[in-house]
Amino acid sequence: MNKNFNILVCDDDEIICYLVKELLAEEGFNADVVYDGKDAISAIRQKNYDLLILDLNLKTTRGEEVLKFVKDYDKSIEVIILSAETELKLAVQCLKQGAFDFIQKQYYTEELIPTVNRALYQKNLIQKTELLEKELEKVSPAEIVGKSDSIKRLLTLAQKAALSDSNILIEGETGTGKELLAKFIHKNSNRKNYSYVTINCAALPDQLLESELFGYEKGAFTDAKTTKRGLVEISNRGTLFLDEIGELSLTIQPKLLRFLENGEYRRIGGIVNLKSDVRIICATNRNLMEEAEKKNFRRDLLFRLNVITLSIPPLRERKEDIPLLVEHFLNTKLKTRVKKTLSDEALDLLMKYDYPGNVRELEHIIERAIIFSDNNIIRANEIIIPQKIKDKIFDTDSRVVPENVNTLEDLEKWYIKKILYQNNLDRAKTANKLGISVKTLYNKIKAYNLLDEV
Ligand SMILES: Nc1ncnc2c1ncn2[C@@H]1O[C@H](COP(=O)(O)OP(=O)(O)OP(=O)(O)O)[C@@H](O)[C@H]1O
Ligand SMILES: [Mg+2]
Repeated sequence: MNKNFNILVCDDDEIICYLVKELLAEEGFNADVVYDGKDAISAIRQKNYDLLILDLNLKTTRGEEVLKFVKDYDKSIEVIILSAETELKLAVQCLKQGAFDFIQKQYYTEELIPTVNRALYQKNLIQKTELLEKELEKVSPAEIVGKSDSIKRLLTLAQKAALSDSNILIEGETGTGKELLAKFIHKNSNRKNYSYVTINCAALPDQLLESELFGYEKGAFTDAKTTKRGLVEISNRGTLFLDEIGELSLTIQPKLLRFLENGEYRRIGGIVNLKSDVRIICATNRNLMEEAEKKNFRRDLLFRLNVITLSIPPLRERKEDIPLLVEHFLNTKLKTRVKKTLSDEALDLLMKYDYPGNVRELEHIIERAIIFSDNNIIRANEIIIPQKIKDKIFDTDSRVVPENVNTLEDLEKWYIKKILYQNNLDRAKTANKLGISVKTLYNKIKAYNLLDEV
């Protein structure tokens, strides 16, 4: 562990202070020393301490008061109490008020260093978690851009829905922002301080999906070396986002239904019913009513999931959002300080296009334009609309394979892309035409990054 921490020792007994400082120094820690509570408080005001080792029986300001000050002032400062045998009750009181631990003075030579190490380790962990959370905030601001009436209406509904505890179904074509909306709902809900967990039902085979969702007990199957908590358990009190719910197989559907009915589930191989309080948001680009008609999706499950349904309209039906989205992507994608803007002609071109890949497609167009444009005004000829690429590569009923397609993998990529385009990126239709399952198609799109090239 890094020894670069600021430690303060406070005890009215100068010899103890000296010995503690020495012990710490032997371990590579640097410590400052004060002999009274009021000096400890003023030292803490002046320097960023990580840890305070605090005696209770001080002359003017007592240890309990210093502890109270520290926890009000900056609760990330860990405090270890040094207590005399007669003060045990008080020491326990201090634990309740946020002290990390206490050490009885007569045992300090053995106990001090391990306790200090534990306290600093914990502090480090907390700091790391906070940092990670901040990073996550940065990458997922859940900012939904748009000023069209349909988006405004959707956001008002979503905000209201967020405050309820009902399950929510989000519908919309690919790239319309379903995942973004799910995050938005979580962040606007009373569950926002608990986990937001996502799982893509299309990406995993049945067995794996079940064990991801519900976990398993040690020994439930050959590879189950330890007990594993499922996502429904991890997201307790939070939100679980089930993406591509339309791909959930008929084997898993009843298991999810049971959980939705009473919040109870069993880990695979488990014999007790566990309970978890989870709000489910799910998303699909299929029409689940139609799937229910065709008996691919259980009607009873659908009615549990779609207590509230939010439909995101495709971008071509709300073109007034395009300029704002362009502005948003220009601001977020550009890594330099110099701002780039679009020429009127370039914006004109973007307004005319229909975006089968919706906002994601627009996002990629802007990203590419930023990279390829030579100056700060992006011109129309620097906007690469996929339609153009599409016309060039795929606008052919003939089956002539382009020259740059050589390997079997190239061929597969090219053909999947071609069929995807022909079906306006509709995955169910594409999979059907290719004679593969949507799951397989989904995995290929991901493996070949096909949607990122749209
Ligand atoms: N209204 C919006 N404002 C800002 N960014 C958006 C908006 N809608 C979508 N995006 C961006 O577009 C991209 C695609 O969004 P998202 O992944 O949420 O779509 P999706 O509907 O889940 O797509 P798919 O069905 O393919 O999974 C993301 O980068 C997202 O941040
Ligand atoms: Mg999605």
